[in-house]
Amino acid sequence: MLNFWHNLLRPIYALAPMAGITDSPFRRICKRFGAAVLYSEMASVAALTHRPEKTLELLRATEEESPYIVQLFGVEPKQFADAVKLLTNQTDFQLSTFNFQLISGIDINFGCPVPKVLKQGAGSALFVDVKKSHAVIKAVLDNTDLPVSVKIRAGAKDVDALTWLEAMSDLDISAVMIHGRTLAQGFAGPIDTEMIKNARQVFGGVILANGAINNLAEAKNILEKTEADGLGLARGVLGNPWLFAELNGGVGKPQDLKKIIDLALEHGQMFEEFFAGQHFVEFRKHLGWYLAGRPEAKALKIKLLQTNSLAEVKEILQTGN
Ligand SMILES: Cc1cc2nc3c(=O)[nH]c(=O)nc-3n(C[C@H](O)[C@H](O)[C@H](O)COP(=O)(O)O)c2cc1C
Repeated sequence: MLNFWHNLLRPIYALAPMAGITDSPFRRICKRFGAAVLYSEMASVAALTHRPEKTLELLRATEEESPYIVQLFGVEPKQFADAVKLLTNQTDFQLSTFNFQLISGIDINFGCPVPKVLKQGAGSALFVDVKKSHAVIKAVLDNTDLPVSVKIRAGAKDVDALTWLEAMSDLDISAVMIHGRTLAQGFAGPIDTEMIKNARQVFGGVILANGAINNLAEAKNILEKTEADGLGLARGVLGNPWLFAELNGGVGKPQDLKKIIDLALEHGQMFEEFFAGQHFVEFRKHLGWYLAGRPEAKALKIKLLQTNSLAEVKEILQTGN
């Protein structure tokens, strides 16, 4: 089985997984601007094994999104094994709207700090249970030929990234994305670049640094300090997929508001088509992000954030009210 991680040009700029955000339309937008790897939103292995339809809808992709990595979260090795069998088409389960061939890799979430997830023993709580972490990764590796990657934090409770990676060193993990903040830090504060740099001593696969990368200067600084193979971009690309282009030597977010609105509209159109006009309200946050930092568009943004359909958005943009 071809391992796409080996063929990517360095530095690798990946779209990091974000629940409620990295859906197919947004992944396609980021791909167009130069994202080299695209992660799904996190998907529950328990849900995939009990009622796959709803979760497969969450993971639905198109051929444009390649390489496409599906991220799983959960706690029981057996459920991970079953979920992976399902995703790699080793079961009788079929769904006409879901193309299992589009999945290029499987990622496992060891970093989520959300209380609901921690309570189940998943995300960062699984990371803290080093033995179980190992069993989960082994269960995934034993049931797929797809490359397997992991996403971890710099540390959680008394376990740090280096200790954890060392404990997994007998497993064939292709890549690790290290969110350089600890569980206690949540989503704020600086990242531990030294920890990410030192990961090279205990891990032989691809290392992606993640956290607090919001512009070109921060990206360069973190790449330099961590000596990582690439970066995972998360909140820094919300409303700014141009950052991928900038990282690849192209131009950044335009000053021209019309160009920004054009992309927001195109993104909205893709969202509307992909989800067949459903749950448009979930798209509104993108409108806010596209217009962030533009005080002259504040009134427009407030109006757009109250829309319930793309038609309403278009009407506001055309008539100004
Ligand atoms: C709204 C939101 C949803 C997220 N969902 C996931 C997820 O599903 N899986 C995951 O591993 N990390 C998730 N993350 C974490 C990001 O991938 C990333 O590690 C974190 O935001 C730090 O990067 P940043 O400071 O550049 O945003 C999420 C972050 C945000 C803000």
